[in-house]
Amino acid sequence: MSTETPTRDPIKVRRISFDHEGTELPRHFMGGDLVMSHIVATLSCVFPEGEDYFVRSVRNFRDQITDPVLKKEVGAFIGQEAIHGREHRAMNDRFGELGYPAKAIDRFIGNRLRFDEKVAPPKFRLAVTAALEHYTATLAEVLLESQEARDLFGDCDEVRDLLLWHAIEESEHKTVAFDVFQTVSGDDKYRARVMNVVTFAFLTTSIIWTMISLAKDPATRERGRLRRSLKGLRTSPWLSKDVRSRIRDYNRVGFHPNDHDATELLAEWRERLFGAEGTLVDKLAS
Ligand SMILES: [Fe+2]
Ligand SMILES: [Fe+2]
Repeated sequence: MSTETPTRDPIKVRRISFDHEGTELPRHFMGGDLVMSHIVATLSCVFPEGEDYFVRSVRNFRDQITDPVLKKEVGAFIGQEAIHGREHRAMNDRFGELGYPAKAIDRFIGNRLRFDEKVAPPKFRLAVTAALEHYTATLAEVLLESQEARDLFGDCDEVRDLLLWHAIEESEHKTVAFDVFQTVSGDDKYRARVMNVVTFAFLTTSIIWTMISLAKDPATRERGRLRRSLKGLRTSPWLSKDVRSRIRDYNRVGFHPNDHDATELLAEWRERLFGAEGTLVDKLAS
């Protein structure tokens, strides 16, 4: 069991609020792309219940954390995830108005995770959280690193800004659930086994809900539209070989989320969004 926590910047909880009142959101907000719009909306709808589950899973072990740095980070992790959930819910209401099955996804994920909490032990749920946090941090860092990924949002600043802020914070707290797991267990084999289960469940759930969402959209039946959109997906920066190998790296014995150092990337994006001239400064509570 490891109780070692490397020195790092404190995690900040930003009191941010995105106002969606009176804004026009096109149905295919990802630059008009059919499949990407459904994928992003589906993932956004999975977040609120998913992140509540992460909070409960980590909170279960709060009393067993003695390292003062990690203890503080757990508090900040809970604070950040709570605000992510709230802001995604507001965005998901917009997606629901546009015809995405936002409420059905939210209900399904909530029921699925509450069932998991009835049958699965706390250590398993913590390992699930650490694994999914590796997914969110990896996908978040792709958004921050890749101009190509950001360009996929077209003119839709509303969704891109929400995800950029969320991406910064996912990267900032990417070590927390992992370090709590290492502190209370540290079992690399168990961690990797749970990651394999999570990969299967996360991918099947996301794919099935994206398919349901697409099936409800009349644009899916427009001649050639689905085929063209799926073709574009093959070169998506989120599905690159590098991203797949970063996800797989989690199963390496001795892996730590900070092996993929995001210090400079985060400094750049904190300045761009929340520096003196930051584009999202006006959305922070003073
Ligand atoms: Fe989050
Ligand atoms: Fe997170």
